Amino acid sequence: MDSIKIHDSKFSLLFGSEKIQAAIDEMGKQLNNDLEGKEVVFLVILNGSFLFAADLIRRIKFHCRISFIKLASYEGTSNSGKIKKLIGLNEMLEDKTVVILEDIVDSGNTLDSIFKVVQPMKPAEVKIATLLLKPEAYEYSYKIDYVGFRISSQFVVGYGLDYDGFGRNLNGIYVLTE
Ligand code: IMP
Ligand code: MG
Repeated sequence: MDSIKIHDSKFSLLFGSEKIQAAIDEMGKQLNNDLEGKEVVFLVILNGSFLFAADLIRRIKFHCRISFIKLASYEGTSNSGKIKKLIGLNEMLEDKTVVILEDIVDSGNTLDSIFKVVQPMKPAEVKIATLLLKPEAYEYSYKIDYVGFRISSQFVVGYGLDYDGFGRNLNGIYVLTE
């Protein structure tokens, strides 16, 4: 399928399944090289990262822990209003190598919220692995250690990423055309 329609929007194929798997292969090799011998905890940021994480983690050859976490907004008492809360983080992260697995880094707000929760837990180090990065939209200075694909600031869907809840089941990644 080279193009698809979700609601009234049209999307065209950007990365097919083979390209995605090749990028994940490469990232898996890098992680195996870099992190072998460390106490690694992968933090999978749901929902979008579920396919990427499942494919990447199957390539990891060392013993590791995996936690599935989700950011939820709630009304905080601070004057900044909405605060993000992390749910599902049951692992102890102290002295561990934490690897955050993201489907896509856009503004970086999600990453920032995660760092604010993870850093006080005193991990030895925090690495970031993302399948997709929109460099022009990224507003923070956290180093993105592992990147599958760099893309322009366009909206994409598929392979875990959704448009209004749909499209996560697509094998490829599609970009909004009209
Ligand atoms: P950020 O917080 O702005 O970096 O955005 C990160 C989150 O926004 C991702 O984890 C996605 O859930 C969502 N997102 C950003 N860009 C896209 C896109 O192009 N398609 C689908 N979801 C996106
Ligand atoms: Mg996400």
